[in-house]
Amino acid sequence: MSRDDLVKLGGQLDGVEIVDYPDPFPVEGTKAEKRAERAVAAWFLLSAITGLAFVVALIWWPWEYVPWTDESGHFWYSLYTPVLGITMGVSILSLSIGVLLFAKKFIPAETSIQQRSDNLGQGSAELDRKTIVAHLQDAGERSGIARRSMIKRTAGLGVGALGLGTVALPLASFIKDPHAEADNKHGLIHTGWKPEHEGEIVYLRRSTGDTNEVSLVRPEELDAGGMETVFPFRESERGDHEALLHAIRRADNPVMLIRLRPDDAARAVKRQGQEDFNYGDFFAFTKICSHVGCPTSLYEQQTNRILCPCHQSQFDALQYGKPVFGPATRALAQLPITVHTDGYLIARHDFIEPIGPGFWERKS
Ligand code: FES
Repeated sequence: MSRDDLVKLGGQLDGVEIVDYPDPFPVEGTKAEKRAERAVAAWFLLSAITGLAFVVALIWWPWEYVPWTDESGHFWYSLYTPVLGITMGVSILSLSIGVLLFAKKFIPAETSIQQRSDNLGQGSAELDRKTIVAHLQDAGERSGIARRSMIKRTAGLGVGALGLGTVALPLASFIKDPHAEADNKHGLIHTGWKPEHEGEIVYLRRSTGDTNEVSLVRPEELDAGGMETVFPFRESERGDHEALLHAIRRADNPVMLIRLRPDDAARAVKRQGQEDFNYGDFFAFTKICSHVGCPTSLYEQQTNRILCPCHQSQFDALQYGKPVFGPATRALAQLPITVHTDGYLIARHDFIEPIGPGFWERKS
């Protein structure tokens, strides 16, 4: 039986009467056919170009954090994620449009009348399977895909480039290690509390609402049982609006300065290796929750608990910020503090562990 006969027979067996079965382009090589072919190829080509652009951006776009102080560098860095999203999105969209357009323009659109049947629950018979394969082959042949090399090549290019991007994405997580350079002050290991050079003093500064006002913190200014949010400040930033603003905006900078009541402070349990991180009754913990990074801004004076409003994790300020309730599993990182000779509270050095939620390379 020829394929044409099988197509017809398939229709008859399914109770389908083909009323009209026109070739999309009965005359080969017409202008309309070439136009349709070029349109499909253009979408596949666009998919290929944007797919390759995704891979190029993934590897070579400036992805390392650049602080606000470098306006142009920060601008290009901030475009990294949008560029990845746009190139990948356009690539998928173009490929889909190309496939849809090909089906619309080149697959024959017959008009049929079908009596539906489920073969009395027996499933598809051997003959049905053969005839449906014949139908699919027939549609493929009539669409002329075999001789439309431009469409085949551009489709292959589009699928290939998109596939390359899809494979490159998970692989990139293994190749790019932002923590390879442990001293990178903008990496996840460090915060804005890290001195920029040997001997630099980093003060605790409160935010008064006026970015340019530098209000440093003296121990006597905080009542027992009180809590204040503080940010890092170094003398080199005085009068530098951008630097002062950045110190307050940088996500890993906010710290809770807590002054425990003397009785509570006397029974506080210190974490091993952090016995001297507090200054008398003063304890400083990062405000970034160790669960998924919300701000743990609520300090309850009576119970000495710090509450994260996102998922209700609670941390005990009397036990080095240890989680005592909720989904968080790690203690809040503690900032080592002391008082400088000028009477203001300062950080002795950066946190000794990464703050906030876990990430792949994190050791603790
Ligand atoms: S982010 Fe704090 S409990 Fe989830």
